[in-house]
Amino acid sequence: MFRVATFSLCLFYKRQQICLSFTRSFTKKSYGYRLLSSKGTETENACTIDSLGNLEVNISKVRQLKRWVLVNQVAYVNETAEFLREMGADKTQIASILERYPEAVLCTPTDVQLQREIWQLVCSNKKELLMIIEKFPSSFFTIGHSNNLKANIEYFKELGLNKKLISKVIASAPQNFSHPVEKNKEMICTLTDSYMKLGGLRTNMRPWLQKLLSLDPFILIKDPSIIKENLIFLHVTGFTSTEIFGLLTKLKGFISALSVSSMAENLAYTKKSLNCNDQTIKDIILKCPAILSLPIPVLMERLQGLLNSGITLGQIKQTPAILELTSQIVQFRIQKLVSSGYDIKKEGLGPLTGTKKDFEISSGKIQLKKERPIFNPVAPLKIDR
Ligand SMILES: *[C@@H]1O[C@H](CO)[C@@H](O)[C@H](O)[C@H]1NC(C)=O
Ligand SMILES: *[C@@H]1O[C@H](CO)[C@@H](O)[C@H](O)[C@H]1NC(C)=O
Ligand SMILES: *[C@@H]1O[C@H](CO)[C@@H](O)[C@H](O)[C@H]1NC(C)=O
Repeated sequence: MFRVATFSLCLFYKRQQICLSFTRSFTKKSYGYRLLSSKGTETENACTIDSLGNLEVNISKVRQLKRWVLVNQVAYVNETAEFLREMGADKTQIASILERYPEAVLCTPTDVQLQREIWQLVCSNKKELLMIIEKFPSSFFTIGHSNNLKANIEYFKELGLNKKLISKVIASAPQNFSHPVEKNKEMICTLTDSYMKLGGLRTNMRPWLQKLLSLDPFILIKDPSIIKENLIFLHVTGFTSTEIFGLLTKLKGFISALSVSSMAENLAYTKKSLNCNDQTIKDIILKCPAILSLPIPVLMERLQGLLNSGITLGQIKQTPAILELTSQIVQFRIQKLVSSGYDIKKEGLGPLTGTKKDFEISSGKIQLKKERPIFNPVAPLKIDR
């Protein structure tokens, strides 16, 4: 029993080839964990195939991508399906989960039960837990670090982070919940230290942390020193603490994905191209934080595209959020606005910016403005004359 469990762990964590040679040595020692045909090539486990077939899982697909699951002698197909059914999954959902993550059938029912108990600490609602399993089957069915997982969950709960957020973070960065809790503690300490050093109030720390983690759970998989350097860089560049908090919360993934050198290059490039001073560039960044994170060739292309459309540097400086949009979108929007009679030169870039919805609303207003006289109820009617 113990050996079987060790074996399936191997399948979870190693690449196929390593596992194959690993199991071969087992077979040679005649533990018999894998069925071998007369030629010594692995034979698929007929029972696994049958049971998956009954569940209408596309076996060809599994065979193509993860054949090693099918040749494993021990599998718990029906048990895993029963667990999913009990969580509320229907036939289609079960087939889809097992097709995308067939490794799930190698987990013993005991493992699955333990995993479920731990996850219930943050997600007691079956329906929600099933949604997580559907989206991140590997996070749920990766067994073997339950003590760390549990300790990490408890730590995040102690911090006062809400359960929903914790389950989101675990699901999207599962590897970090299998590490000892100390690593996450170190990361959280770095974040809260930086927050306090930038003048944040202790009473606001938790909501801030919560917001930060929900915007960017991947912060947890970064090196804490990078986050610290990035925060210090922004501070030294002249952003006030409040402005930095604003930037952090506006730009998803911002603080963990960027480096000091890339931010410095983007700042220098934008400052030079828009021909502005330290204060102006700061205001521009606050209006369009994306400038810090876009690759320079993209910034260049967008800027050139705007200038080619007759938009001036002055207009870009006034409405830098226009740089968040690709050149194609800008072109499309300009055409749409111009055809409704909008004068970009006179009236500015404002209506061009924002999300698709923002744009639809503002261009709708422009069209309305133009058409209103037709429907004006107080306009004198011809028959009155
Ligand atoms: C799994 O369930 C199917 C259908 O109920 C059954 O035919 C099959 O024998 C079961 N497999 C195992 C290994 O019990
Ligand atoms: C099963 O998967 C294979 C390989 O991905 C694919 O070609 C085939 O169309 C699928 N069959 C069904 C019934 O979806
Ligand atoms: C999270 O996981 C990644 C990848 O395994 C690792 O590089 C990083 O240091 C981890 N971070 C924490 C806080 O455990």
